[in-house]
Amino acid sequence: MNQLIARFPEQLKEALSIGRAATINPHSEALHNIYVAGLGGSGIGADFVNEFVRNECTIPFTIGKGYDIPATVGKNTLAIASSYSGNTEETLSSFEQIKTRGAKVVIISSGGKLIELAKEHGYDYIQVPGNWPSPRACLGFSLVQQLFVLYKLDLISEKTIQSVERSIDLLETEMEAIKADAKQVAERLDKKIPIIYTTDRMESVAVRLRQQINENSKMLCWHHVIPEMNHNELVGWRDHKEDWAVVYLRNADDHKRNAVRIDINKEIISKYADTIIEIYSKGNDLVEKAMYLVHYGDWITWYLSELHGVDSIEVDVIDYLKGELGKLG
Ligand code: PA5
Repeated sequence: MNQLIARFPEQLKEALSIGRAATINPHSEALHNIYVAGLGGSGIGADFVNEFVRNECTIPFTIGKGYDIPATVGKNTLAIASSYSGNTEETLSSFEQIKTRGAKVVIISSGGKLIELAKEHGYDYIQVPGNWPSPRACLGFSLVQQLFVLYKLDLISEKTIQSVERSIDLLETEMEAIKADAKQVAERLDKKIPIIYTTDRMESVAVRLRQQINENSKMLCWHHVIPEMNHNELVGWRDHKEDWAVVYLRNADDHKRNAVRIDINKEIISKYADTIIEIYSKGNDLVEKAMYLVHYGDWITWYLSELHGVDSIEVDVIDYLKGELGKLG
C-alpha cells in the first residue's frame, strides 16, 4: 500500500492522459442532472467531484451508494456507473435500472461485467488500468475520469482538471514532508479512536480519511462536518475518554465563521479528549488543498497499519461478505 500511495501523483498523471484520450459522445437530449452510482473506493471519487464542481456546474449532482436509483434519473440525466472491479452488485443493480431510463450512460471501470455490459449495449466507457490491487488506491483514476466526462459533455470548463494537474507538482514537492508529518500524526492516533472534523465544503476529504482508516488501518473511526456538528454532535461531548483523538482538517481559507467555530469547538472538546490534532492543507485552490489532505491522510493510514502490524491491502471481510451474497445468486 505504501508503494501505491507513493504512486498517487503518477496515477493522477496517467489518469489525465486516459481522460484526455477518452471519447464521450454527446447525448440526444439536454442534460438536466448528474447521477453517479458507486460504492466504497469507487464511490468516493464522486464525493470529491461533487464538491469540486459545485461552484461551476449548474445542474444538480447526486450520488447513489445502494441498489436502487432515484426517480430523478431519466432521459435528461448523465448517469455514471463507477466500479473498479466492474462486478459490485449494488452498482450493477443501479446500472440495470439506469438502462431503462434513457439516460446518457457512461461506465468507469477496469473491467468485469460493467465493461462487458457497456460494450454489449453500446454505452460510452472509460477503462482504467486493472493492475492495481486495491480500488481505494485508484481514487485518482475514478475522480479524474468523472471530471473528463463532465468536461467532454460541456457541463464544466477545464478549470478543475487544470487544478488536478497543478496538484501533481504540489504532491511531488511535498511528499517527503507529508510523510514525516503523517508518521507523527499516526503515532498520536495509535490505539485511539480517531474522530475527524472538517468544514462542509471538504466532507469528501474527511470521508476518505475515515474510510482509509477503516480499510488500511483496520480501525473504527467517525467523522462529522462543521457547522452541522455544532447543532447536534457537539452536545454529545460530555465525558472524558482517554482513547478518543480528534483530528481537525483545516484550510487557511475556510469560511471565517467556520474557522472561529473550529477554534471554539477545540476549546470545548479539549476538556474531554486528550489528543487534539490540527492538520492544515497546502495548495492554492480547493482541488489542490483536497489532494494535499487526501495524500497526507493516506500516509497516516499506512503508518497506522504499520504500528498495528496489519496488512493494509487486505479487505478479507469485504470479500467474505461479497462471496456469501454471491452464493445466494
Ligand atoms: O476499497 C475497497 O476494496 C472497497 O471499498 C471497494 O471499492 C468496494 O467494495 C466496491 O468495489 P469496486 O470498487 O470494485 O466497485
